[in-house]
This record gives sequence, C-alpha cells and structure tokens, in this order.
Amino acid sequence: MSRVLVTGGAGAIGSNLAAALILRGHTVTIIDDLSSGHRALVPEAARLIVGSVSDDDALGAAFASRPELVFHLAALFANQNSVEHPAKDLTANGIGLIKVLEHAQRAGVEKVLYTSSSCVYGNKAVMCETDIDFRPDTPYAITKLLGEQYCRFWSDHHKLDTVMVRLFNTYGPGEFPGRYRNVIPNFMKLAMSGSPLPITGTGEETRDFNFVADTVAGMILAMESPTSPADVFNLASGRETTILVLAEAINEIVGNRAGIELKPRRGWDHVMTRRGDTTKARAVLGYEPKVPLREGLSRTYAWLMQVGAVQ
Ligand SMILES: NC(=O)c1ccc[n+]([C@@H]2O[C@H](COP(=O)([O-])OP(=O)(O)OC[C@H]3O[C@@H](n4cnc5c(N)ncnc54)[C@H](O)[C@@H]3O)[C@@H](O)[C@H]2O)c1
Repeated sequence: MSRVLVTGGAGAIGSNLAAALILRGHTVTIIDDLSSGHRALVPEAARLIVGSVSDDDALGAAFASRPELVFHLAALFANQNSVEHPAKDLTANGIGLIKVLEHAQRAGVEKVLYTSSSCVYGNKAVMCETDIDFRPDTPYAITKLLGEQYCRFWSDHHKLDTVMVRLFNTYGPGEFPGRYRNVIPNFMKLAMSGSPLPITGTGEETRDFNFVADTVAGMILAMESPTSPADVFNLASGRETTILVLAEAINEIVGNRAGIELKPRRGWDHVMTRRGDTTKARAVLGYEPKVPLREGLSRTYAWLMQVGAVQ
C-alpha cells in the first residue's frame, strides 16, 4: 500500500481515481484548487488540500504527505476554455506541471503519471502512439503536448520515473454539465429539459468515448506496471461513435422527443474522426476496457439524476 498524491482529485476523473485507489488500500491526498472540481466529489477517506499546483506553498503542503506515487490530473479543462483563456491554460497546464515535477523530484517520488490527451494527435483516422506527427489545434492541446515533453525531460535528465496516458473522451459519473464540459453530460442535461441536442458539424464526426471506470483502471495499470521512463499509452475504448448515434442514444435513454439540431462547426474543431489504437496498452499493461457505450450512458444518466445535476 502506498501514499499517493492525486492532483486535480476533486475533478471528474480524479475523484473516481481517488475512490479506486482508496478501495485498493492506498492513502490518498488530493490537491485541487476547485476551479472546475467539487468538494462533494472528494472521497471521505481522502485528505483534500485546496490550492493550486502553480503555487509552491500549496504544493509544499501536499508533498508534506510524503507521497510515493503522484497522479497528475490538475489542468485547465479544456479546448474551448483554453481558446478563450490561453495564458490561464499555460499557467495551470505548463507551469503547474513543472512545479509538480520539481516537488516530486525533491521528495524522491517513485513515479509520476501525467494525464495527456488524444487531442495532441490532431485530425487522424486512427491515433497510435507510434505517430509523432502531432497537430495540436488548441492552446489546451499544445500545453498537453508540452507536458509530455517536460515529463520526458524529467525522466531523461533528472531520472524521475514518469508515465504518460493519452485519455480519449472520458465520460461517466463525476462530470457535471457545464459550459466547458464534455458533450455527454451537456447532451443529457438538454435531453432532460426536452430540448433538441445541438450538433456542431454534420453529426458524422466520430469520437472514442471511454467510460471513466475503464480510464481509471488503465491509469492504475500504467502506474503499477513496470513501464519504460516517459512511456506513453492511449487509454481509449478503441471504438468510434458518430455524434449522431450518440445523440440518438441519449435521447432514447432520457426519453427526449425533441431530436437534434445541426449547428456550424466550432472554428478550432478540425477533428473529424477519433479512434484510439489500444494495442500497446493492452499488450504492455493488460488494459481491457469493459463498459459498452450504452451501459456507460445509462450509468451516467442514473448518476446525474441521483445528484440532481439535471433539472
Ligand atoms: N475528460 C476527458 O475526456 C479528458 C480527455 C483527455 C485528457 N483529460 C485530462 O484528464 C485530467 C482530468 O480531467 P477531468 O475530465 O477530470 O477534468 P476536471 O476539470 O473535472 O478535473 C481537473 C481538476 O483539476 C483542478 N484544477 C484545475 N486547475 C488547477 C490548478 N491550477 N491547481 C489545482 N487543481 C486544479 C480542477 O478544479 C478539477 O478538479 C485533465 O488533466 C485533463 O486534461 C481528460
């Protein structure tokens, strides 16, 4: 059992990760500035330090828990937010990461996991770790890629063990609807209010939706497996779903008869198709995503109803 620090542990994925780590018997400390996270999501058994990863004092308090392992999830989320606030994005995602790596190195941490994103790939039919022709489209995608380069530097130069996971569209309990949030909770909220679901584009665009429990399982495997320094893994479902199919499934689960409406594509959104190649994660980590989309959507809807997030 280890002492674990989760940055961004009050967020959608981080809170699920913290709960899973506690179930495995680890002692979990969280640092989160609650900018997009929620105190209510933090598991009772975790210790929460409210502060920013770009603040050395707050990080000092977090690292006083003497973590052996660090999962770094704190980040400004996500594309649209970063287009509107690029400097804020760089401070949280760039400077924040550097400071976490500095503190981890000084504290003698055994391994740091960095949550990167599929958006570093840009617009590709299938996204595979062997591809190094990166096409980040937004400040968020740029800083996620920048973070990978810093992890590689810290592993090469400072010999700090790091592993990087590129998460694909993760959804599930823990994510509230909101202006900068992902499509699934926002579609659910609209469907609940009987509104048509707005699709920005043609609806034929695809994404690779991965249920949060599968993403979290992959992150823990990446941390616990003997990986090469600064190795990188896709954590995806490996399946492509069109936005049209997603919207229709949500309308059906929620019982919304208002249908969909097509809107112009967002200016920065050039990703037409997204499917993660999971061959490497399966082979090296034994990663095996389990939850089919339909089941994951029903579980997400049940959670949103339970917490009263959808009016
Ligand atoms: N959700 C996805 O589909 C997805 C896809 C790719 C990558 N990711 C990455 O996974 C990680 C978690 O994403 P999420 O969906 O849980 O998002 P989230 O916004 O729910 O979680 C991020 C958490 O970090 C906290 N935070 C933000 N800035 C901070 C700062 N400066 N100091 C301390 N805490 C700060 C927020 O309050 C929040 O609790 C992020 O790094 C994100 O970039 C997510």
